[in-house]
Amino acid sequence: MARLFSPAPFVIRQLEKAVTLKNSAENYGSVAKWLHWATAVLFLASYCAVYYRHWFTENRTAENIIALQLHLSVGISIGVVVFLRLLWRVSNRAPTPESNNPLGNFMARAGHIALYAVMIIMPLTGYLGSGGSTNFFFLFEIPGFADTPLFSLIVRDGLGMTFEAFEKPLDFIHKEILGQWFAWILIAGHILAALYHHYILQDRTLQRMTTG
Ligand code: HEM
Ligand code: HEM
Repeated sequence: MARLFSPAPFVIRQLEKAVTLKNSAENYGSVAKWLHWATAVLFLASYCAVYYRHWFTENRTAENIIALQLHLSVGISIGVVVFLRLLWRVSNRAPTPESNNPLGNFMARAGHIALYAVMIIMPLTGYLGSGGSTNFFFLFEIPGFADTPLFSLIVRDGLGMTFEAFEKPLDFIHKEILGQWFAWILIAGHILAALYHHYILQDRTLQRMTTG
């Protein structure tokens, strides 16, 4: 009798693929990896644009304005990616920590929470503190927060504040506290911790966010 085609191996292979999209106890899945590395690249691009503007351009020249618009566009993209990342994170367990050191695991967890906080607060303070009406999201024009009905309703009419008074503390957080210091310290600590796990402890922490 001719052997009937069995769909079981095909279905199992597809299921296996679907499972690797999600995190497991041992590894980050491919969605979490893509979202993680996309955020890392976008952070770098956002810093490059704003510091190129500061260090290499004269005020009000074309390059100066393009570098700022690039910073805004990449910054808003980070906001979108982080929103998706948070949704994925709450519906997905993180892998079990590789090390059994409770202090190390506590620090890693605190570091990750702080990184998530930075990833949310930076785009938020950046946008809420944007007053110019010619902000761009790449090719599309978007209104600065000061030109939105939300600003008029909540800040101007509700709180009775001018945009200048409203943006001052946001700018301070965006630039002076997080942008210039805290984000750098956190990211540097995060990278050093990943290298420490890889080269000194020689565990799979870095591998499971890359090839694992
Ligand atoms: C994760 C995303 C972001 C990061 C890491 C980031 C980082 C920074 C940094 C480091 C600075 C310069 C601080 C300094 O004065 O030395 C800056 C300035 C600025 N950011 Fe962001 N930013 C982000 C998102 C945004 C967004 C979404 C907007 C607005 C839509 C924005 C608007 C601005 C503006 C207007 C400035 C002042 C420009 C200047 O001083 O040249 N940023 N940002
Ligand atoms: C070269 C740069 C980077 C390297 C080598 C790196 C490496 C890693 C590794 C190995 C993990 C897994 C840690 C574990 O399993 O305990 C991880 C997770 C994480 N990384 Fe990075 N990372 C980098 C850049 C960044 C940047 C720029 C950010 C954000 C600004 C970031 C935010 C995070 C967060 C929030 C987690 C926790 C993920 C979760 O459990 O949801 N990383 N990173």
